[in-house]
Amino acid sequence: MNAERYPRRLLDASRIPLIVVLAFAMLGVVEQPRVATAVGAAKAAALPYQDPSLPVPTRVADLMSRMTVDDKVGQMVQAERAALTTISDIATYRIGSILSGGGSVPSPNNASGWADMYDNFQRQALSTPLAIPMIYGVDAVHGHNNLMGATMFPHNIGLGATRDPDLVQRIGRATAEEVTGSGMDWTFAPCLCVARDDRWGRTYESFGENPQLVSQMASIVTGLQGSALGGSASVLATAKHYVADGGTTGGRDQGDAQISEADLRAVHLPPFRAAIERGVGSVMISFSSWNGQRMHGHRYLITDVLKNELGFSGFVVTDWAAIDQLDGQPGFTADEIRTSFNAGIDMAMVPTNHRQFITLLKQEVQAGRISAARVDDANRRILTKKFEMGLFERPMADRSYASTIGGTAHRDLAREAVRKSQVLLKNSGGILPLAKSGGKIFVAGKSADDIGNQSGGWTISWQGSSGNITSGTTILQGIRQKVGSGTTVTYTRDGSGVDSSYRAAIAVVGETPYAEGQGDRTSLSLDSTDLATLSRLRAAGVPVIVVLVSGRPMDISSQLGGWNALVASWLPGTEGGGVADVLFGDHAPTGKLPMTWMQSISQQPINTGDGKQALFEYGYGLTYGATPTPTPTPTPTPTPTPTPTPTPTPTPTPTP
Ligand code: GLC
Repeated sequence: MNAERYPRRLLDASRIPLIVVLAFAMLGVVEQPRVATAVGAAKAAALPYQDPSLPVPTRVADLMSRMTVDDKVGQMVQAERAALTTISDIATYRIGSILSGGGSVPSPNNASGWADMYDNFQRQALSTPLAIPMIYGVDAVHGHNNLMGATMFPHNIGLGATRDPDLVQRIGRATAEEVTGSGMDWTFAPCLCVARDDRWGRTYESFGENPQLVSQMASIVTGLQGSALGGSASVLATAKHYVADGGTTGGRDQGDAQISEADLRAVHLPPFRAAIERGVGSVMISFSSWNGQRMHGHRYLITDVLKNELGFSGFVVTDWAAIDQLDGQPGFTADEIRTSFNAGIDMAMVPTNHRQFITLLKQEVQAGRISAARVDDANRRILTKKFEMGLFERPMADRSYASTIGGTAHRDLAREAVRKSQVLLKNSGGILPLAKSGGKIFVAGKSADDIGNQSGGWTISWQGSSGNITSGTTILQGIRQKVGSGTTVTYTRDGSGVDSSYRAAIAVVGETPYAEGQGDRTSLSLDSTDLATLSRLRAAGVPVIVVLVSGRPMDISSQLGGWNALVASWLPGTEGGGVADVLFGDHAPTGKLPMTWMQSISQQPINTGDGKQALFEYGYGLTYGATPTPTPTPTPTPTPTPTPTPTPTPTPTPTP
């Protein structure tokens, strides 16, 4: 048996009604419930499915033999917490899972607020005749990022720059502890998309453009789940979004990937294979389509390839109300429901109208248009994970990890990841590392003192936001903490007040937060605020060190010549101190580009091996002292036939 995951609470108050039922049942007054409660089990011989000493397949088979159609249909539906205005819907409709969408948080938004919410929902699930526990999904994609005060790790694109799968696995473990500590048991992570067009607003959720790199970072699955589900602080992971969401034409979110099957298999499938090899428990389907067919109705890719060919034995969950998109009209229909479940969906994420959805799904099942075998396959997959997670023995929130949330150990780990993710792209005259003591340093830029900007999307709210949105260390605070007492650090957001008396100016610029949809761009240039700040600094005649806080490469080649140094910082999260660790030389930069860096937006998509002249190649990254690391010959990955692009105007080759 795995270590204790949830403290036992056999005499939980909510079960009193069931004990009464049990007492009457034993007197033969009311129909004997098909199952004893956990309390009943303590009295009567536990039913097979309640006996943890039995093999999981045996328990699953016994439980399924007792389930009604309502029980089975309910397990195939996930409702959103905010839609559960009548919390008893969980019991009435036998709902097997609940989620928090981005920013859908309890009040108070703290560990006990989340755990209390979880327990309230769980008590409803356990009040049903079979007492099948529910499972609760959140988007913990760079820490438990909905939770105020949680440790926000660098987003995946920065983790890709570290080239450190072990670090990423440790981040998975730390994330699992903070997720568990707030009572949750399932995260919709990792995103294993292979980002091939930087204009896509979810590029930062990818570990990079290279399938082998992304596959290596599937190590986070082991961090999240442990070597097996059910261990202490083990959280169900989700490989998403299946498949090729990073390869849509034009980098449009929820767009169409117009690529050959050979390219889909070579570029976009390997990370899912890697996650399956690590035992990932769930897979989320992509909103996107492949050559015009929506993924959520794609039987070949879901059932034939994912389940049969790759041998995925976990369960497949839809994306947010994604079934509704199958016919291109708003809302869901019986046809869409039938098509998606027959394609291989096991659980539908139904953020609104879960009652209507369940009614339609039950009708399709009872009419045989979704076969009993398909329903049983879905239930078997879902229940197997719930048993493996230990939910039947320990269904209530495990609060013993609450103390890890935002704690020193996790913040130190996040700071290590920030350090290792910094990619030094230019260092003229070896201006970096900066001396810690002496003289004056100027700091400017809209993202220098803004924890919201440095954390990016999926932070506290779905799209993220600028400002002091949660606790942590801004890049400016890290600089101030780093320098010696003899050094003056002056900061203004727009650079005003700078003059030639400063030995250097650090400009922290880039992108403000965004998430899916809102991040799709046709331009990746710096905004006018940043350009004005940079021009003010340059006019003062001081050396300018640019720290670029962005979710992807930006179109900066025309400005690069005026900068003395450039560090790609990506979206470092709450531990901005890691940037200063590199700027002041406590740690030399080791990061390598996870993406090919364009010379111009007109080159997009631009990836290794497609014959386009990049500003910086995939894998490029300087360090201190040593001669610039030659761009390694990357493993060429087959790329889709490049769309003809105008020859980019030649720009000066950067002086590394
Ligand atoms: C969103 C995202 C997906 C996320 C889900 C639940 O639309 O596409 O990544 O896990 O909904 O929030």
